[in-house]
Amino acid sequence: MPQAAHSVRQRKHGFLIRISHIGLAIAVINQLLTSLVLSAPAPDAAGNFYFEVHEYGGLAAFSFITLFWFGVIFRKRQAPSGLMFPWLSAVRLSALWSDTKLHFAAIRRMRLPPYDDHAPLASAIHGLGLLLVTAMAASGTIYYFINSGDPDAGGLVGVVMFIHLNLANLVWAYLIGHAGLALVHHFSNNLHLSEMWSLRRD
Ligand code: HEM
Ligand code: HEM
Repeated sequence: MPQAAHSVRQRKHGFLIRISHIGLAIAVINQLLTSLVLSAPAPDAAGNFYFEVHEYGGLAAFSFITLFWFGVIFRKRQAPSGLMFPWLSAVRLSALWSDTKLHFAAIRRMRLPPYDDHAPLASAIHGLGLLLVTAMAASGTIYYFINSGDPDAGGLVGVVMFIHLNLANLVWAYLIGHAGLALVHHFSNNLHLSEMWSLRRD
């Protein structure tokens, strides 16, 4: 008897990208929420429970972002990684500028900008988000290995904490903007969330 036909369509994003994106998104949400209630160790006080969750959640975020980078560098499907980092190519920069103007024109007409699989603006923002979260995870992880129980200590601890604390609000902005747009595209049928949030190996 012939087997039931089923869809063999390949997902837009490869398995490694999808699994590391899911882990990273959950870890970053955990980092932002725990940052609201954590109390870091100080010379005269121990850190609280939420700080420990932040610490180990942050190390997990570092592992997921390392995997994500492997996925981006060695990917075989979806757009070339150069779309995410257009900053050194005149051709890519000019495509980014045209796409940005297209987005502004659509917004002025109160329209949702057209969805495009290889959109230069969305890809460039994804690249910036990746660099941002890499800087957060790396500064936190370096702090984990070099700290002596006081985030206010000077020297290298001061440098990594300066980076960590000053980029923190951008991570909130990225998460809200990125997740918000993902929901808009899902409900306007441009890109289903399962393209990214699926653990199937196809
Ligand atoms: C702060 C945590 C997050 C980071 C750093 C992040 C980062 C990224 C990056 C870099 C990409 C591009 C991947 C590629 O093209 O290879 C991406 C795609 C995507 N993300 Fe996230 N993400 C986060 C959270 C989320 C959340 C919470 C959602 C859902 C509500 C989401 C939904 C999506 C979707 C649907 C795509 C596919 C977009 C497309 O193919 O056009 N992300 N994300
Ligand atoms: C992607 C990973 C991470 C994200 C998104 C993140 C996010 C944040 C945020 C939003 C804050 C609050 C900033 C503020 O109060 O203005 C913070 C503070 C902090 N984080 Fe992280 N974090 C990450 C990883 C780590 C790791 C691995 C450690 C290692 C121990 C760490 C240690 C700290 C410390 C010590 C503080 C300062 C606490 C204080 O002095 O009040 N973070 N982080």
